[in-house]
Amino acid sequence: MMRTGIRIVSPEETERQQYFMEEIKKLPQKPKSFFVVTYGCQMNAHDSEKLKGMLTKMEICEASAREDADLVVFNTCCVRENAERKALGNITWLKEIRKRNPSLIIAVCGCMIQEPGMAERILRQYSFVNLAFGTSNLYRFPEMLHNTLNTDRPIVEIENDDIIPEDLPVQRARSEFAYLTVMYGCNNFCSYCIVPYVRGRERSRLPDRILKEADELLHDGVKEIMLLGQNVNSYGKDLANGINFAGLLEKLDSMGIQRIRFMTSHPKDLSDELISAMADSKHILPQFHLPVQSGSNAVLRNMNRCYTREQYLDRVEKLRCSIPGIGLSTDIIVGFPGESDADFSETMQLVEQVRFDSAFTFVYSPRIGTKAAYMPDQIDPEISTERIQKLISLQERLQQDTMRRFIGSEEEILVENLSKRSDLDVSGKGRHGISITVRGNKADIGSILKCRITGLKNNTLIAERID
Ligand code: 5AD
Ligand code: SF4
Repeated sequence: MMRTGIRIVSPEETERQQYFMEEIKKLPQKPKSFFVVTYGCQMNAHDSEKLKGMLTKMEICEASAREDADLVVFNTCCVRENAERKALGNITWLKEIRKRNPSLIIAVCGCMIQEPGMAERILRQYSFVNLAFGTSNLYRFPEMLHNTLNTDRPIVEIENDDIIPEDLPVQRARSEFAYLTVMYGCNNFCSYCIVPYVRGRERSRLPDRILKEADELLHDGVKEIMLLGQNVNSYGKDLANGINFAGLLEKLDSMGIQRIRFMTSHPKDLSDELISAMADSKHILPQFHLPVQSGSNAVLRNMNRCYTREQYLDRVEKLRCSIPGIGLSTDIIVGFPGESDADFSETMQLVEQVRFDSAFTFVYSPRIGTKAAYMPDQIDPEISTERIQKLISLQERLQQDTMRRFIGSEEEILVENLSKRSDLDVSGKGRHGISITVRGNKADIGSILKCRITGLKNNTLIAERID
């Protein structure tokens, strides 16, 4: 797909979409209820909050289950094949529900739609879908939905521009926690990854816009903000005013937001300046997600990651020296084309050496259009399965030890929900990004509790209150 340029959505365009939201309210065929199904990463979760924000403005209510809704939106992911398969399976299943509810509207959006050839495939094989649109078209959802409600034909919109949407209404999943996008897209072209093809080139939001949104969230009572971007460390490289991510963090830190986290970071762009900004800050939490992907230099080179194992370890060392006790998480892929037993052993050794607080582990999944999909020596799925099992059990064993370092220490937990295991407990995340369970009830949800860690159960820390 040819990308033509970066464009900030204009106030006129925003007004136009507001007009369509008002128009939909008046339509007799307006759906009464909606359900948004979300796959994939935090970016997608936040896009779904924007879809829900727009739908709520149209006075359409959120249904408690997709079977009960008149409008179902699938916000898809295509980073691995199983995410895609799952979405397509669920869309097909909904076709059966349409038999019970003929006026059911099915919309599909997100990264999968942006894949080359996918829109045509949806039209051909999934002709019961009413509306399909790409990630860059999200801001036009009201107009597209209006058109859908006024026609029997499927509507497909895929924008080629790299859009920066602004001023979209957001319906947050939790009142005390908010996502805040600082940049969109990615320029890195890791050889396995489809994201740059479906989310476009890196583009930073203007700092004033970000700070204004942060201020609004602060006044709305938000206690924790997670800054989002595919590679937040390259924030500002495309802006003329010289601000970088460290500078942005300093500004956000001075606003008085209680807790600030961010993700994701690329090791090649993790500067000493950023680490110092974190170390000197009051509100940036001592937590870092730093995907390593592999412990082998040969594999890292083929992945086009632009750092070596040694450089990665140096960044970890620097983070741990500057921010003692920092919580460290990572992403690892096994079974990348050409990964030998020796390469895999190097990944195992790196995991053993670093001792991550958590690791998201994936079997390599070939994505059409990416460089790695055409590399020789694709790995036998049986070997990949064996490797991922070894990796998961190593990480589980190490994680038990790593987490024990918190026992006896004080933590502040932002309570997210009632514990799944007991009605008498609540759980949430500590400052280091680790899940913690403590005695509590519904009234504690959204508060920050001061606790002391007393133990560890099934990879969750147990705490007691101290205030
Ligand atoms: N196969 C397996 N894992 C992948 N990831 C990205 N692309 C692929 C792929 N083709 C993983 C990376 C990335 C995380 C979000 O998903 O580890 O950091
Ligand atoms: Fe994908 Fe690499 Fe960009 Fe992350 S940095 S989104 S893995 S291309």
